[in-house]
Amino acid sequence: MRFIFILGQASKLSLAEIQSVLPQASVIDSSDAYAVIETDIADCQIFLNRLGGTIKIAKIINQPIAATTIAEQLSVNALGKVIFGISFYETKPTKIGMEVKRLLKEKKFSARLVTSREPQLSSVIVTKEKVREFLIIKNKYLAATCAVQDFADFSHRDYGRPTRDTKSGTLPPKLARMMVNLAAAKSNATILDPFCGSGTILQEALLLGFKKVIGTDISQKAVGDTKENIDWLISQYQLTPSRLTIEQLDVARLSTQLRSIDVIVTEPYLGPGLHGTETSQQIGKIIGELTSLYEISIEQFSTVLTKSGTVVMVVPEFRSNQQTIDVESLFTKVGMTVVSHRDLVYGRHDQYVWRRIVVARKK
Ligand SMILES: C[S@@+](CC[C@H](N)C(=O)[O-])C[C@H]1O[C@@H](n2cnc3c(N)ncnc32)[C@H](O)[C@@H]1O
Repeated sequence: MRFIFILGQASKLSLAEIQSVLPQASVIDSSDAYAVIETDIADCQIFLNRLGGTIKIAKIINQPIAATTIAEQLSVNALGKVIFGISFYETKPTKIGMEVKRLLKEKKFSARLVTSREPQLSSVIVTKEKVREFLIIKNKYLAATCAVQDFADFSHRDYGRPTRDTKSGTLPPKLARMMVNLAAAKSNATILDPFCGSGTILQEALLLGFKKVIGTDISQKAVGDTKENIDWLISQYQLTPSRLTIEQLDVARLSTQLRSIDVIVTEPYLGPGLHGTETSQQIGKIIGELTSLYEISIEQFSTVLTKSGTVVMVVPEFRSNQQTIDVESLFTKVGMTVVSHRDLVYGRHDQYVWRRIVVARKK
């Protein structure tokens, strides 16, 4: 069956996540907004709940993009008032919704067309107003939405948890989830975040079903924050980890304490907050310091990882500067290979530092 996945703002990353979770599926078509994927999905909503980077999933309707098709679909199993809406992607919105409403009235259905100022209905509107949504994409595809992202649950985990370290910066849970998915690990794998901060990555790993989870950080406060957040998560979502260790540890000493780690998913220290006025010399200095930290870290990663272990790591991209941190060389030096493309980036236009996600495997 063919599905349309509506991708989040970091579309390349969102698509890479889908391909990692569905390695057998074929991508038929894609753009910055969507991907058309041939696959079998038993339950759209359960599947979408696993992903961090997809906003909606819709089933493609192999019929003409016409008001009659949509009205026909809506009249099947319609109970009471039909609440529906049309979202337009990469095409100019039309008045097709009004035409559908007229056709439904002709068939004696009571109907409400939900509209928005934007060409697309948001996931919030679709969920809250229980809208049966149809997507018209590029005048090429017509699809019926079968799942929308649980924005409220992501936000609960982000803002509802006991502690958030706004100083060191916390990773958005959606990005943490995408990173864990990019590791493509089995749920019996042992997963480590050696710069765990307030525990966002560990949270998403536990929710994705990983039972052996380790978090370490040089800061005692971060360790305390992570413990508090993970205790909260375990009780909120009734999780049952079989191994959960959260300890203070400098990344340079990882191999003195740990071995047999299957997967490392981490966001290391990314440098001081920038104001946008830094000279290229100042940024060069930050890059030099971070390169030293990452070199030590990657050496330690390769020692504690099992054979064919995986690292998924955030690396900063300085928008005002051409210089980057050459993590590819650092991984090569320890016999690991970077397998991700350089375009897996996450950031907003007003941010001076974007996050690049690097996936590397031990040979
Ligand atoms: C960007 S924060 C990680 C935030 C985390 N991803 C989250 O969402 O909460 C980086 C973390 O690296 C830790 N750190 C810095 N240097 C370290 C080192 N040498 N060894 C271990 N942790 C270190 C800091 O204490 C900080 O908590």
